[in-house]
Amino acid sequence: MTTVKKKKMASAATIAVSLLCCFITASTGSPDDCDVYAATGSSFTVPLKHELKESDNLKWFKGMRVIFYRRQKQVIMGKNDDVDSTGSLKLTQLTKDKSGRYIPEVINAEGINVGGNLQSVHLCVLDRVQKPKVTMTCTGNKTNVSFTCSVGQNEKIEWFMDGKQLAEKGKTVTRVATKVENAHFSCNVSNPISSEISLPVQQICYKPVFSETIFGISIWVLVGGGAGMLCLLCNPYILTCVALLKYERELYLQWSNQEQEQPDYYDHRYLQQLPGNTSNMAENSNSPSNIPKPGICTHCGLKRDDLK
Ligand SMILES: *[C@@H]1O[C@H](CO)[C@@H](O)[C@H](O)[C@H]1NC(C)=O
Ligand SMILES: *[C@@H]1O[C@H](CO)[C@@H](O)[C@H](O)[C@H]1NC(C)=O
Ligand SMILES: *[C@@H]1O[C@H](CO)[C@@H](O)[C@H](O)[C@H]1NC(C)=O
Repeated sequence: MTTVKKKKMASAATIAVSLLCCFITASTGSPDDCDVYAATGSSFTVPLKHELKESDNLKWFKGMRVIFYRRQKQVIMGKNDDVDSTGSLKLTQLTKDKSGRYIPEVINAEGINVGGNLQSVHLCVLDRVQKPKVTMTCTGNKTNVSFTCSVGQNEKIEWFMDGKQLAEKGKTVTRVATKVENAHFSCNVSNPISSEISLPVQQICYKPVFSETIFGISIWVLVGGGAGMLCLLCNPYILTCVALLKYERELYLQWSNQEQEQPDYYDHRYLQQLPGNTSNMAENSNSPSNIPKPGICTHCGLKRDDLK
């Protein structure tokens, strides 16, 4: 009985400790309480919101530690160059270890705190995010596909499928392969100071066969339907073409027959020489002769008889 109790107590203690650990890591790891974010390598000036007199003593703390102290004009801690003319703290070439709370303090010559509750700043220095990469894996006997984004700690993820944002916010997105056959997946990782988007990646788990379906319709139906449509569209046209060709051929035959009967049908000189014909075409047109009326197309195959 006692051993069981002890075990229970031990496990309770472990839970308590691990909870505490979780809480601690969460509170230190989370950048939620940052007032200002800055990228590594950049600069940031912590403003002093107090009008400084020459007789004032200025202190800057990082957390509990004094990092700058100037008594009147004499710099006791840090460098002269650490603050600007207004007493604001200049931080350059930022590294992550410069993250922390920066607190100013102004004390006059009489030793009285004249700054009151001067505003402190919690600065968080972060690296810019790396350009993420999406890796694709086939799961469930190639029926499913998973895309995984290479994301760093404390970085936010957004997923995009063909440019449209997905609901998922995790490292991995899983889909049924057939449903995302040609879709492009990419992830956007971001932190408070930067964001990068990956190159798009497609699945290769599911490879369509020709007889497969497109939008749930068999490809054969599509092909057959398409061919049917083409037939419908083409057939009247083809028929018209054939009819026209036939007609033209007839016209040609008729015309060549006429040529044989009366070879110089259009030759005016010849017509003029014909007995009973004068040189005036207008006169001739009035007479019931075999000469065609002007303006009538002889190529249309109209027989001389038609003109009568
Ligand atoms: C494939 O993914 C679907 C939906 O995400 C899931 O319901 C199913 O269990 C998965 N199948 C396999 C074999 O992993
Ligand atoms: C995977 O799929 C193939 C083809 O569809 C099938 O022959 C095989 O039995 C499947 N394997 C498993 C483990 O489900
Ligand atoms: C990526 O996400 C960040 C943070 O939400 C956003 O500011 C940025 O515009 C996004 N980039 C693209 C290309 O969607």
